[in-house]
Amino acid sequence: MSEATSALPGPVPVGILDLAVATGHHVLDLDDLAAHNGVDPAKYHVGLGQDAFSVPAPDEDIVTMGAAAALPLIERHGVEGIRTVLFATESGVDQSKSAAVVAHGLLGLPSTVRAVELKQACYGGTAALVAALGIVARDPRERVLVIASDVARYDLDSAAEPTQGAGAVAFLVGAHPELVEIEPASGLFSADVDDFWRPNDRSTALVDGRLSVTAYVDALLGSWDDLAARGGPAPHEIDRWLHHQPFTKMALKAHRAWGKHAGAETSDDDLATGFTYNRRTGNSYTASVFLALAALLDLDDDLDGRRLALFSYGSGSVGELLTGIVKPGYRTLRRTDAGSVAATLDARTPIAVGDYRALHASHSGPGSASSLDRENPRVTTGPFRFAGVTGGARRYERTA
Ligand code: CAA
Repeated sequence: MSEATSALPGPVPVGILDLAVATGHHVLDLDDLAAHNGVDPAKYHVGLGQDAFSVPAPDEDIVTMGAAAALPLIERHGVEGIRTVLFATESGVDQSKSAAVVAHGLLGLPSTVRAVELKQACYGGTAALVAALGIVARDPRERVLVIASDVARYDLDSAAEPTQGAGAVAFLVGAHPELVEIEPASGLFSADVDDFWRPNDRSTALVDGRLSVTAYVDALLGSWDDLAARGGPAPHEIDRWLHHQPFTKMALKAHRAWGKHAGAETSDDDLATGFTYNRRTGNSYTASVFLALAALLDLDDDLDGRRLALFSYGSGSVGELLTGIVKPGYRTLRRTDAGSVAATLDARTPIAVGDYRALHASHSGPGSASSLDRENPRVTTGPFRFAGVTGGARRYERTA
């Protein structure tokens, strides 16, 4: 046995050490979209449970948002121990080169770091978390940087248009986590279903909205049953629930269905704190459930030792239900950033419906993967920008 192998410690608690959030430069108020579409705004605010959505500027994309989310983690923790960066996205900008490699360069990570992109619709961020847990369990000296970043983009004037959005959450996974220890058992549910998908020649997703709602609920109930069969906690042993939130009403519908299925008493208030950021960013696909986690950790002061259930759903479809225990002292860590996510959301520049529609239709529009050579206008105030395309290759730069 080599010295390096014999020095490996035994099993240790693994989980999330720290996490940070970024989003797009602009915000579209759903009151304005409702007025444009001739719809009662209550349909969006109450019926869908959304108030606004983020719209990336022409010089932003999943890479700039993801790197912006990861930057504070690197500044706080350094790069020591990081040997893997996993970039999860549904809205990838290249069919071959991973967004992880570009983020790796922008963040100045060492060459001794593997970089890879993961995809399974909105489930990719959770797949990355689970892979990271395995890497750390194998060698607890390692840390994994996970970046989940997406631009949710549907056709203009479609039923799904008000459920667009953009955002990124980055987190560090390691041993002896200071935020959330992830428990070993998880519940899984996969089924081949065409509820939401995006063919290679499209920049907007195709969706069967009704089917996507029932497929989501099926995945939650299936994941719950699998977790229970694997010795997971009873309903009363779960203190807080976090769900993937394509729109927050979806999470409510699923939570109510779970309550009936599991024979548990539920209230819509159970999920309200975790909705706080998502109501303002809109859907951020792979990042969405972690945005809910960020909101809970930032805004709930009674989480010491509490068990969270975290349900991830990716259309197509894969569901996974994880549980984790919040570490005492989480407040100290999150409150150093006090108000930073709220401030980031407040700082977005409102965009008028006409400008949003023009941007959506352009080659530089949010979520566009166009390879047309161009210089992008300088708009973002974030730490990184998507400067343009030269010879078909996307160029990025640090802004400050
Ligand atoms: N006041 C209050 N509520 C109102 C209202 C009013 N004036 N008018 C309508 N509503 C309510 C409706 O009653 C309905 O509520 P319930 O579902 O609780 O009955 C709600 O507003 C929405 O109304 P509709 O069902 O008529 O809305 P729609 O057909 O125009 O579109 C949608 C809804 C199908 C979900 C559409 O937004 C969509 O396709 N979204 C994208 C797909 C999606 O996100 N699916 C979720 C699961 S898939 C997933 O999770 C992966 C992913 O991220 C995409």
